[in-house]
Amino acid sequence: MNNLNSLYDLIGGEEKLRALVDRFYDLMDSAPEAKELRELHAVSLKQSREKLFMFLSGWSGGPSLYIEKYGHPKLRMRHNPFPIGERERDQWLWCMNQALDESAFLPTVKEHLKTRFAEIADFMRNKLTE
Ligand code: HEM
Repeated sequence: MNNLNSLYDLIGGEEKLRALVDRFYDLMDSAPEAKELRELHAVSLKQSREKLFMFLSGWSGGPSLYIEKYGHPKLRMRHNPFPIGERERDQWLWCMNQALDESAFLPTVKEHLKTRFAEIADFMRNKLTE
């Protein structure tokens, strides 16, 4: 069934989702505000870009690219090797909120995504903040 009200369609499909993910990682790669977050990642962000795009595609109601290739996302478990506290969560959200603010998504879509991402990012915390 073609669900025209999915978040994926509201975002504008594959091209716009890729643009959002690319902007998110470009910010992470260059902004001093995301320094510690960047240091948790590999030198090349190529794989991170591809994986986040694939995950968000299915998560937003588009093609389930991540699950088809890697199986169940088990996101919290996959983040366990990386120490994530409030600082890392806030840096991740800083990059994403900035990328969303720069996008041409409808204001309601932006707000919805910000709220949902804030919930997931908070759930990813696995260390107590000093
Ligand atoms: C809360 C702060 C977060 C931190 C510090 C963080 C950090 C990381 C790191 C270091 C990786 C490994 C990347 C690499 O191999 O270079 C990763 C992978 C990933 N992250 Fe996050 N992340 C956060 C939040 C999120 C959120 C909110 C989402 C989803 C909306 C997400 C989705 C993913 C996905 C799909 C992967 C790939 C998993 C895999 O297949 O290995 N992350 N993250």
